[in-house]
Amino acid sequence: MLSTYKEKIGIWDWYEEESVISTNDTIKEYVEKLGKNIVVSAIHQTGGRGRRGNKWQEITGNLYFTYTQEAEAQELSKIVCIVGLSLAKAIKQRYKAGDIKIKWPNDVFLNGKKLSGILLENIKDTLWAIGIGVNVEKAPVLEGMPYQATSLKESGLILDRIELLHYYLQQFLSDMQEYRKNGFDKIRREWLDMAKGYKEKIKIKTEREVKEGFFEDIDDNGYLILKTNKGTEKIIAGDLFI
Ligand code: BTN
Repeated sequence: MLSTYKEKIGIWDWYEEESVISTNDTIKEYVEKLGKNIVVSAIHQTGGRGRRGNKWQEITGNLYFTYTQEAEAQELSKIVCIVGLSLAKAIKQRYKAGDIKIKWPNDVFLNGKKLSGILLENIKDTLWAIGIGVNVEKAPVLEGMPYQATSLKESGLILDRIELLHYYLQQFLSDMQEYRKNGFDKIRREWLDMAKGYKEKIKIKTEREVKEGFFEDIDDNGYLILKTNKGTEKIIAGDLFI
């Protein structure tokens, strides 16, 4: 395991594996042996997990990684937004990608199609695994979804996935520093500037129902404020579609 050590990126010791089932599982083994502040990437990920029990397909050349982050449970919804924002900013600023949007809470979309997915899981106590998949090389065909997926290459953006890993982690560090120092407000405004469907009519699929309304705002927890014909509702979890 230790032979896979590459270098330090920001505060994290970076390890790259040839093939794992899920980097969100592998990180737990690393943390047990080595402590926190670890990032693990994998060239192949054979059993990648998505949100709501979905699978995250493996396509050679795409980026799969998971890193550790300390956070109190009550700030997790904000961290979820920061992760999406940092990824959107890293891709937009470094690679001048065109139409980059964040679909609440943290899917990054390029030209109306899903480019990446993020899965946060608890490791122990206040230590979290933040797992990210980015379609660098090729997008999978999504079945039963109201949107399609895309890759950076499909938009003519040819890049080294490890370079993106570096840019992302540096961007996340800087956004976390802003949040820890000055609170969530600037992050919230930046997030809204890139939000898909903001100030538009949207639908939110929750565990139990589909709610329709107007995407009014996100609050200082990162929860979505939806204006419906019954009044204003705070949405804590769900899938947004337009
Ligand atoms: C989603 O949009 O449903 C979230 C997908 C998260 C995929 C990444 S790939 C790296 C990490 N390892 C996993 O098994 N899942 C996450």
